[in-house]
Amino acid sequence: IMSDGSRTINDVKTFLMSIRGADPQQMMKFYDQWAETYEQDHSLMDYSAPHQTVDFLNANFSGSREQVLVLDVACGSGWVAKLMAELGFRKFVGVDGSKGMLEQAAKTGLYQDLRLALLGTEPLPAQTDAFDVVMIVGALRDRFVPFSVVRELCYAAKPGGYVCMSRVDLKSESGANYKMCLEKELQLMEDEGLWTRVISQEMDRYMMDVYNDDQYLYGTMYLYRKALN
Ligand SMILES: C[S@@+](CC[C@H](N)C(=O)[O-])C[C@H]1O[C@@H](n2cnc3c(N)ncnc32)[C@H](O)[C@@H]1O
Repeated sequence: IMSDGSRTINDVKTFLMSIRGADPQQMMKFYDQWAETYEQDHSLMDYSAPHQTVDFLNANFSGSREQVLVLDVACGSGWVAKLMAELGFRKFVGVDGSKGMLEQAAKTGLYQDLRLALLGTEPLPAQTDAFDVVMIVGALRDRFVPFSVVRELCYAAKPGGYVCMSRVDLKSESGANYKMCLEKELQLMEDEGLWTRVISQEMDRYMMDVYNDDQYLYGTMYLYRKALN
């Protein structure tokens, strides 16, 4: 996706400033407003999380890409599904808390269903044991999707299905705290026998740190496999 030049990194900075301190409901309204220029603006920020995460899944996934059913959580404009479709994945269901983002996702024509839900407040609108692959990219962070939602992602996966997650490593105290709580929950679920970790990997150049020009944010990707029983 190329920027057509009508937006600049300053537009992105202004936008990001305006969402500081927003509560979840306000955040979804901001995403509604952002939806139309979301991909353009994220290209300006060199946002590579969808590419990196889809490549990571693809490298570690064995199974028939044409047949599997994918749940794309916090699907946004459908970037993840577009990249997965290029690799042969065909069946997608999307969930997001922003109506405006879901409208963009609908335009891709890739999703058999798109569901509106504010995660953390509302339950994940997905059947238990139903999905071969569950994806969540760019949403596991403070004030977006609470870490506790990973348990619902696991429930939505089929026995033996995969849950693929990636998140940004923010240097702030709340960012570090989120990471700690998330990783504790991931481990606790493994201890409970719900799933096993297949692999995790650091992400270089997750996206530009717009507040520190020339610097990049790092991230982490995780792939889990749900238990068979
Ligand atoms: C940075 S975008 C990522 C979108 C897409 N996965 C991608 O990588 O391009 C974050 C998305 O998470 C959604 N989101 C944030 N918090 C949410 C919540 N609590 N419940 C549902 N969706 C949420 C936003 O509406 C937005 O579409």
